[in-house]
Amino acid sequence: KKTDNHILVIFGASGDLTERKLIPAVFNLHCRGFLPDNFAVVGVSRSAFTDEAYREKVVFENEHLKDVGGNGDRAKFAKRIYYHAMQTNNPADYPIFRDRLKQISLECETGDNCIFYLSTPPSLYEVIPRSLAEVGLHREQDGWKRLIIEKPFGYNLETAIDLNQKLLQYFSESQLYRIDHYLGKETVQNLLITRFGNSIFEPIWNRNYIHHIEVTAAETVGVEKRGGYYDGSGAMRDMVQNHLLQLVALVAMEPPVQATETSIRNERMKLFQSLRALSEDDVVNNVIRGQYTQSKIKGESVPGYREEEGVATESRTETYFAMKFFIDNWRWSGVPFYIRTGKRLPTRVSEIVIHFKPTPHHLFSKGNGLPNTENILVIRIQPNEGILLKFAMKIPGAGLQATDVNMDFHYSDLNDAYIPEAYERLLLDCIQGDATLYARGDAVEAAWEFVDPILKVWESNPDIKIYGYPAGTWGPEHADDLLEGDNITWRYPCRNLTDDGI
Ligand code: BG6
Repeated sequence: KKTDNHILVIFGASGDLTERKLIPAVFNLHCRGFLPDNFAVVGVSRSAFTDEAYREKVVFENEHLKDVGGNGDRAKFAKRIYYHAMQTNNPADYPIFRDRLKQISLECETGDNCIFYLSTPPSLYEVIPRSLAEVGLHREQDGWKRLIIEKPFGYNLETAIDLNQKLLQYFSESQLYRIDHYLGKETVQNLLITRFGNSIFEPIWNRNYIHHIEVTAAETVGVEKRGGYYDGSGAMRDMVQNHLLQLVALVAMEPPVQATETSIRNERMKLFQSLRALSEDDVVNNVIRGQYTQSKIKGESVPGYREEEGVATESRTETYFAMKFFIDNWRWSGVPFYIRTGKRLPTRVSEIVIHFKPTPHHLFSKGNGLPNTENILVIRIQPNEGILLKFAMKIPGAGLQATDVNMDFHYSDLNDAYIPEAYERLLLDCIQGDATLYARGDAVEAAWEFVDPILKVWESNPDIKIYGYPAGTWGPEHADDLLEGDNITWRYPCRNLTDDGI
């Protein structure tokens, strides 16, 4: 699809995300020929940079930029990058900014289409859109105007509703693009194809055949330099309210009527509406919170969460979260869903595991005295992206004993295995005016509606336990108790890093 000429304005241009993700994403789009002939990127923040100095920082010296078409491309690309220093929280600075934008649009012949990307602290999410509107930069008569808003979208249900209301005073819903980068991951989009592009899965994708579903997003990193932000957030706000619930929506939603923005977003919304609210007892019994503690990983000492920079010494912020919940609709009645996420776990892996029910009558035993075989489908989101189906096979030779074998697909086996970064895909979609992979206002609120009561129970009950777990392990052992049934545990793609021999 041909993309319109436009300017991408990034507020928060001197920040980490801009350098690590946004500029590399635009660069890749440029190198792969997805950008229009006339485009420009304007970085905006308080720091004083000249255009040249900014180009050095984000293009020539940026280690996250991967050369696709040789160095020449960098020089050509850099010419499209501009920088404008201003106090973004001061509406009085915006008339000058508008004039500068006009000047750049004439110089680069981009016309008046504009994306404003808010990659700033959330405290600026109101003042920037308001100030843009005050100088007319929300009007679309001479070109479209779109606003991308980074997470966190609100701190709780109330603030999310408030933010939606404020944004809608200046921009219309169709101009708003609330980003959730998990939706932009190639493997996450493939969930739609796996489920609705095959005839073999959908008939069994329900309570009659599925025993339970696991969604995991594990990370090996700690809070790194983001202690200040993270300590006010925690795993629930940082990962669950947005990324994990979006994964649940895609794995559990009904088939959309069409592969269109409205249809797909409607189905995700319906799924959020059918999440069964957790009672106070459920929060106590079906939710596990953890915090990593000091330990040794591969012989190296790793600090505990409370020792990290920017984190309160008595902090009760969770770096691990696991929960069991149900979806109240026909398809999923009675099927438990388990989700977990954590920092400083033994490996980086995001995956969805569909556990099918066992055969109704067990004819064959598994070798070495293990219980019955099981069918599972693992949708590996990252890394080693792919899909694995586990099923029973006869152990060759005498007798009739079964064992589990894997049918395994890896994206890396494809001829053209280029997997675009989430931000690349999402930016392109925004340029093309497609918000399918962005969160709609009502859906963000519905997700908060599910999460908010849990946060409130934690706030009002300081006695609810938060378990310590040594950095490099799979989180509190109590998390295994969440899973219903004998011999059922989470799937552990690898052992604890603190175990002997690893
Ligand atoms: C971000 C969170 O949204 O997602 C981070 O703020 C987290 O804490 C990151 O590390 C994980 O993203 P990915 O793409 O590396 O799985």
